[in-house]
Amino acid sequence: MKTIVLVMVVVCWCSAALADDSRFSTNLFPKFQTRGCTRCHDFFEQNLGGLAFQSHKERSVEMCVVCHQKNVTGFEHPEEWFAQPGLYTSGMDARQTCEATMSASHAKFKSRRLLKKQLEEHLFEDPRVLWGIEGATPSSGVLPNGKKEDDLVKGGLALWKEQVNAWIQGGMKCQ
Ligand code: HEC
Ligand code: HEC
Repeated sequence: MKTIVLVMVVVCWCSAALADDSRFSTNLFPKFQTRGCTRCHDFFEQNLGGLAFQSHKERSVEMCVVCHQKNVTGFEHPEEWFAQPGLYTSGMDARQTCEATMSASHAKFKSRRLLKKQLEEHLFEDPRVLWGIEGATPSSGVLPNGKKEDDLVKGGLALWKEQVNAWIQGGMKCQ
């Protein structure tokens, strides 16, 4: 019995040590792919069931804040509740999700330092990202008409920051 427990402890310890937190695929990929993030990023993607072609047909960008108001989203500036095409979307694998993020950030044209700063700002301070992280704000996941998105980034803001930092400090590798 004792040997079995010991073997299990060693196996768990080794696999934890092997999980490389600097890789995008280790922690961030599944988090980027929660619906709280992708429903917005898929908004204009017809083949992914984007809302612009479903329940949100013919709703202009000027109309977003009529329903997704400040008391719903919790944003100081409600107009930031907004979607655009050309971002990473659902259905992408880890490498594609990461590369699409880099391309949306125009990473090719920026120094590593600037890119790092902007990614940190976006991922830690953008109200839309915080809305998609469970518990990050009192309004995270809240939608108009008493609806709520349940598939948010789990584990809270502290863990999110730790995992994003590990990836950024590790060189923003798209693996
Ligand atoms: C309300 C819609 C919305 C939600 C929700 C949302 N995003 Fe975004 N996201 C955008 C828009 C719009 C952009 C385009 C850049 C901009 O306008 O700042 C963007 C850009 C990005 C980028 C590209 C980097 C950059 O600096 O532009 C990343 C990475 C990103 N979002 C990650 C996420 C993650 C992770 C979540 C969930 C935790 C999320 N987003 C939730 C709308 C949203
Ligand atoms: C007439 C009110 C109304 C307007 C205008 C409106 N929405 Fe919505 N939105 C809703 C409601 C209600 C839901 C929840 C049910 C659903 O999916 O339709 C929702 C859901 C969403 C979701 C899904 C989030 C998730 O994770 O499930 C996104 C993204 C979204 N809206 C973005 C937008 C954007 C961007 C605009 C402007 C182009 C917009 N909405 C305009 C009422 C509205």
